[in-house]
Amino acid sequence: MIIGVPKEIKNNENRVALTPAGVTELRKHGHTVYVQAEAGKSSGFTDDQYTQAGASILPTIEEVYGIAEMIIKVKEPIESEYPLIKENQLLFTYFHFASSEPLTHAMIGRKAVCLAYETVEKTDRSLPLLVPMSEVAGRMAIQEGAKYLEKPMGGFGILLGGVAGVKPANVLVLGGGIVGTQSAKMAAGLGANVTIVDISLARLRYLEDIMPANVDTVMSNEYNIRELIQSANLIIGGVLIPGAKAPSLITRDMLKLMKPGTVMVDVAIDQGGCFETSKATTHEHPIYEVDGVVHYCVANMPGAVPYTSTLALTNATLPYALQLANQGWKQACSANEELRKGLNVVHGKVVFKGVAEAWHLPYTDVKELF
Ligand SMILES: NC(=O)c1ccc[n+]([C@@H]2O[C@H](COP(=O)([O-])OP(=O)(O)OC[C@H]3O[C@@H](n4cnc5c(N)ncnc54)[C@H](O)[C@@H]3O)[C@@H](O)[C@H]2O)c1
Repeated sequence: MIIGVPKEIKNNENRVALTPAGVTELRKHGHTVYVQAEAGKSSGFTDDQYTQAGASILPTIEEVYGIAEMIIKVKEPIESEYPLIKENQLLFTYFHFASSEPLTHAMIGRKAVCLAYETVEKTDRSLPLLVPMSEVAGRMAIQEGAKYLEKPMGGFGILLGGVAGVKPANVLVLGGGIVGTQSAKMAAGLGANVTIVDISLARLRYLEDIMPANVDTVMSNEYNIRELIQSANLIIGGVLIPGAKAPSLITRDMLKLMKPGTVMVDVAIDQGGCFETSKATTHEHPIYEVDGVVHYCVANMPGAVPYTSTLALTNATLPYALQLANQGWKQACSANEELRKGLNVVHGKVVFKGVAEAWHLPYTDVKELF
């Protein structure tokens, strides 16, 4: 198959969908790979590295879309890319159709095959192509939180791990899923006192088993959260109710209970955030203050560490990309249910229920495609 890797052009997107290692794998299976010039530059990969791995470099995005049977990307195509997409072309990338009506209509119009990273789903209902970004964001939340706890950055002025004779900081993690687990591990590793709250007792039991001694688990309810925020120095928001807005676990009136200089990192901001006072921020202006409490609410945290994020993402996407390239989308999706769940818009038909419902469009059962 002929595979094309365009350079991401969405604002502040520094990741790339395929690494030189991925090129080598695809080449080994007999595929041809075209990479747009400088596509990997912001992630730390040079055109020479891609060439040595067996890819051909094309100077423009038009040439990449023009030649490829399958396009592998990171973010959804933006408006200037719509006209470049060809009928029958396979696009394997994040789409998030349910949050963009224009994108949905554009892809229907192009009659392409749109396979979305975010809806590829394993039989245990986990989302293998979203997990790596939650891992990155969860770990990064502690790094960012530690930075903003420094006095010159607006924080309380406490070192997470303390020193001999001085108590460490208290870190409260709301939600013990992927983000919460990674945050707790990082904070515990730095020597902080960590508390994880979750509504799932089974999850708390599991975390209690695997976490080090400086991590406690507590059932999530308003009473417990009100108490815990009074001694917390850093609070990480990592709750998720799939398909719904995140619940506001810390309301505005609760900020008064907290110490001035407390830092709150709302990782769940992409689902509306789990603090009432959260509003999305950017890497250019990541923080703001409400009632003396520092809020960090960057919606695209992994974008700040493109090297790590690119490798984490491509480790997860490459096995699927290989299946698609080896078998073609139809054969690969009919053989593998995980991939089939990624199909959203195919040849002008919406085959993912949530997208059809979001924009009141006719829905076609994906099975009718095979
Ligand atoms: N800002 C970013 O850059 C970024 C990056 C990656 C992920 N995220 C977001 O982070 C959030 C968490 O993702 P995840 O992969 O860890 O999800 P996850 O499903 O693995 O974990 C969510 C956890 O929240 C718990 N939960 C639900 N309601 C709760 C409540 N009321 N109190 C306490 N816990 C509760 C669940 O039981 C679950 O354990 C998502 O909204 C995700 O989109 C943001």
